[in-house]
Amino acid sequence: MLHLASSTGRAWLARALTQLDDVLVDHAHCEKKAASTAVSLLFRYPERTELLGPLARLARDELRHFEQVVDRLRARGIPLRRQRPSPYAAELLAAVRPAEPERLLDTLLCMALIEARSCERLQLLAAAVAEDDLATLFGGLLASEARHHRAYLDLAERVAPPEVVHVRLEELARHEAAVLERAPAWPRLHT
Ligand SMILES: [Fe+2]
Ligand SMILES: [Fe+2]
Repeated sequence: MLHLASSTGRAWLARALTQLDDVLVDHAHCEKKAASTAVSLLFRYPERTELLGPLARLARDELRHFEQVVDRLRARGIPLRRQRPSPYAAELLAAVRPAEPERLLDTLLCMALIEARSCERLQLLAAAVAEDDLATLFGGLLASEARHHRAYLDLAERVAPPEVVHVRLEELARHEAAVLERAPAWPRLHT
């Protein structure tokens, strides 16, 4: 159960498949960014001891994913290059409320939704790519992104009561769907 408020359409998949190299480069950056966000939460909330173990594990997983995607890029002869980030994450996180503890709760829920969207799209890619090496890579990663989705929700439930988490998750899921709806048509994981 990914708790997304919309399903990715065929237009995105068609675009991604015709520009797979760009999607892979973006994917590498996404994995690195996911690791960095988990680490930045460790810096921001050192007193929240209940978050430390799960966030450290998330960061390690994402860095390992980054290495896997970079290995694939190298094997395909694609250089990892600098990329203008898509507006997705910034627009999603713009909904985070500024005061604590809402700020922490919203950040965890936005991260849960990013993981869910990655999982949903990696599933589409895994089923559709012609290259076996990529199908294997995406298939392996989507299972851990589903676990990460759950891990962020579990953390959210340590910060707020389940009914509060539930209501806010639904609001943010609708926001996430709206952000994607108006995203530019770039060959990215989250556009
Ligand atoms: Fe990942
Ligand atoms: Fe992840």
